Amino acid sequence: MRIEQLKLTSFRNISQAEIPFTHGINLLIGNNAQGKTNIIEAIFCLALSTSFRTSKEAELIQYEKPKATVFANVETKFGNQQIAIGFEPKHKTLEINLEPIKRVQDFIGCVKVVLFTPDELRLIKDGPEIRREFLDRDISQLSPVYYHCLMQYQKVLSQRNKLLKFEKNIQSLQQQLEVWDAQLAHYASRIIITRRKFISKLSVSKFFKESHIMRPNETLSMEYVGFGGNSAQEIEEHMRKSLQVNLQKDIELGYTSIGPHRDDIKFFIGKEDAKIFASQGQQRSIILSLKLAEMEVFFNEIGEYPILILDDVFSELDSKRQKALYDILQNFQTIITGTSLKFKPKTSYTQIKIKNGAIHSIKQM
Ligand SMILES: Nc1ncnc2c1ncn2[C@@H]1O[C@H](COP(=O)(O)OP(=O)(O)O)[C@@H](O)[C@H]1O
Ligand SMILES: [Mg+2]
Repeated sequence: MRIEQLKLTSFRNISQAEIPFTHGINLLIGNNAQGKTNIIEAIFCLALSTSFRTSKEAELIQYEKPKATVFANVETKFGNQQIAIGFEPKHKTLEINLEPIKRVQDFIGCVKVVLFTPDELRLIKDGPEIRREFLDRDISQLSPVYYHCLMQYQKVLSQRNKLLKFEKNIQSLQQQLEVWDAQLAHYASRIIITRRKFISKLSVSKFFKESHIMRPNETLSMEYVGFGGNSAQEIEEHMRKSLQVNLQKDIELGYTSIGPHRDDIKFFIGKEDAKIFASQGQQRSIILSLKLAEMEVFFNEIGEYPILILDDVFSELDSKRQKALYDILQNFQTIITGTSLKFKPKTSYTQIKIKNGAIHSIKQM
């Protein structure tokens, strides 16, 4: 899959831009604060209907403008598709081939992206939230059912948490929780089993297994940390029981302390927990391997590669890795941003220069 043309209007600092991207490598070059990440953010909005930088979507609209729009002509294996998203202060509009789309789940994943930003360098060492986010982003693009379960789970969870906080009559609480807990366990089991499957697919990818950070006799591996069970049914049962067992604790806390909203992923180098042992360089390598593994899993799932976006992370890699990566990146559409790139690809690529929110030049090299 690839974006052939991206059109932005009043999106952050970009008043108006039309960018023709090519297959293979696209270098988006510009000084700091010129609008590189804004362009990446716009593409991400096409994929997931939301930003990765803010939950306040009104921020996406250019100062003093009524509406921001993002439009892309996307070449997919099913043919050409026109995908558009518009942000107004209080609502957004979604469109596929000029048809308005009502349900977000029918929109998500029409454009598919794998994103690597400096924030994701924290993926190994930071708290679990960023790892869950990574899973949810990827799987939601691949499975509307997963996205639906996730949204339902979050709704039920917030209802349950409200009850825990405000229902002081224990009998009434228990009665009401029965209904909510059954629903929560149902959606949780679907989320957990899908996440686990996704992780096991990533783990067997050659990019992940044969990552060059490994010493002889070592393997890179990852594991989902959440409720066990061999089937969705078993997980559901397990979760329902645990919700009961943890009820007193949850009442004291005022929120639900177990479930996929608390789960995590563990990375291992050999038998060692990467969270404790991985050096800066190793973390970078693991995440890069992970990104390439994501590309492979997407390809295996949908029969075409998503768009790979490397925002401000490429220039941090050593020259050997940059060169090795360029070879791999020829195979799909990649957008790399940076202030300047020391090593340019040997094969053809497109270079787009951005200055002050405007496209300054586009060159085929
Ligand atoms: N809603 C907005 N309207 C106008 N400008 C904005 C808006 N949101 C952010 N900006 C501007 O966008 C610029 C940052 O762009 P960004 O894409 O993050 O830069 P970089 O090229 O470093 O990735 C900043 O100058 C910021 O003030
Ligand atoms: Mg940036």
